[in-house]
Amino acid sequence: MWSFKTLLALPTILGLLAVASGTFFYPNAQTSLIEHILVDTHGAHSSGFADAITPCTNYVSGNQSLGRTTAAQWIRVAFHDFVTADVAAGTGGLDASIGFETLRAENSGTAFNDSFSFFRRFVNPVISNADILALSVVMSVGNCGGSQIPFRAGRIDATEGGPFGVPAPDTDLATTLSYFSGAGFDQVDSIGLTACGHTLGSVHHGGFPTVVGPEAVTSDNLAGGIHLDSTVAVFDPLVVHEYLNGTGQAGGPLVTSFNVSSRSDLRLYESDNNATMITLGNQGEGFLSTCVGLLKRMIETVPSDVVFSDVISPIAVKPINATLDFDAHGNLIFTGYIRVLTPTSSAPPSTPLFLNIPLSLPVPLTPESTPGTSVFGSTTFYPFSIPISNPETLTSFHVASQTFSLQTSTFIVPSLTTLTTTSSSVLNFTIATTSLLAPSVKVQAPVPQQGTLGPAIKTFDSVAVNNVGRKKGYALWGGSVDIGVVTGAVSVVVLDEGGKEVDIGFF
Ligand code: HEM
Repeated sequence: MWSFKTLLALPTILGLLAVASGTFFYPNAQTSLIEHILVDTHGAHSSGFADAITPCTNYVSGNQSLGRTTAAQWIRVAFHDFVTADVAAGTGGLDASIGFETLRAENSGTAFNDSFSFFRRFVNPVISNADILALSVVMSVGNCGGSQIPFRAGRIDATEGGPFGVPAPDTDLATTLSYFSGAGFDQVDSIGLTACGHTLGSVHHGGFPTVVGPEAVTSDNLAGGIHLDSTVAVFDPLVVHEYLNGTGQAGGPLVTSFNVSSRSDLRLYESDNNATMITLGNQGEGFLSTCVGLLKRMIETVPSDVVFSDVISPIAVKPINATLDFDAHGNLIFTGYIRVLTPTSSAPPSTPLFLNIPLSLPVPLTPESTPGTSVFGSTTFYPFSIPISNPETLTSFHVASQTFSLQTSTFIVPSLTTLTTTSSSVLNFTIATTSLLAPSVKVQAPVPQQGTLGPAIKTFDSVAVNNVGRKKGYALWGGSVDIGVVTGAVSVVVLDEGGKEVDIGFF
């Protein structure tokens, strides 16, 4: 059974530490928040994550005339994090250790700090830096012409840099293949993965002067980027065809560089007499499925102690911000949104939507006028706010033939919980419970850490609470935590006597 959940308000994810609101997390906090980033990309209630790669030529970290592209950067950052994995030892891979490694020569370029600067506000106690980095690959590929890579969560962040071993343009073939091999990729896989990666983006004179000469620098291409294929911002098979046919960018600067020792893609692609590149070329659009398989393996190369979630897919009918709260008059209400996802090929729901709760007439829901849009279709948001007089009977609610279970005996009160942010953040929270016992509370917050722009999670266990009165049959307990500097959403977790999570809220 789902516990009654509170969630940071959608604008809170977007706008960082805005006014909080409670949410029923469906099916759990991690899945709900990651699905939000994946699906709520544009229009109403968007998370803001995809703004960085909209359009896919966009460079979110600086001037457009630099000639850099964020969508491409994200994929390259994930590759550099992954390729130093030691799969035999079960260490490294997608663990965000790359955040600690940005000063290394093998990680030349602005991509690493650019990406972590943008990612950090999306990191919170249920979304690790490494999950955000992996998700960024899924989003770049899926939103820029490629196919959807199934995403699973659960990656654990490294706390320091890992081993060296990223191939550079002048790395010899044997060493390059040994780096890939350490990460579990054989020669055919390595050629395929490199071709998949090099369908987006550029090699820049700024960062790689031994690959691209200064003549590439112009007033609208200040970093001197030369595209890897003729469609710099489209995830497509063109890089393979242009390489094989010598057309367009002919495989890009890592094939054609003036500097023979910098032609790493040429050495790699020719290492089996182009057999793999010819096979990829013959796949036509099937190349996109090959890339899904290879990139999925890349982002799922993780330390052996990681336990992945199920695949997080778009949710058709999703309760959002669905929570008990007290209104301005102190009355108990059940409030929130239902989001309905309509696939691109289908018509939006025409029949009225009703929310059913026990002992009550069906409540008709009116959609907001502005929909959301994404590669998965359009989303319609139905807000609701229903007075509740018998919370003990509210063990489930029903929408569009679906049943969502919940418990109402303990909840974090959204309207009585605030995170005040100046230079330092103070969380004041209120918990309502029918229990005679004081609630056991844990607070977690993403905070800056030394050596990386990726936040660490700071935990405050067994936070002190005081009885602050009663309302509508609930005892109210308040508490306060002086957190210091926070970088993203802070969680409040209520635990039962056995240490099991009863409710979680984000603020
Ligand atoms: C032998 C292996 C590889 C070498 C030597 C290599 C080298 C490079 C270099 C030097 C750049 C230029 C970066 C810049 O100027 O900012 C680049 C760009 C890029 N690489 Fe690779 N790469 C390799 C494999 C891969 C793989 C396997 C992937 C991903 C799966 C990948 C993804 C990318 C992307 C997306 C870019 C464009 C970045 C941008 O435009 O900012 N690379 N690569």
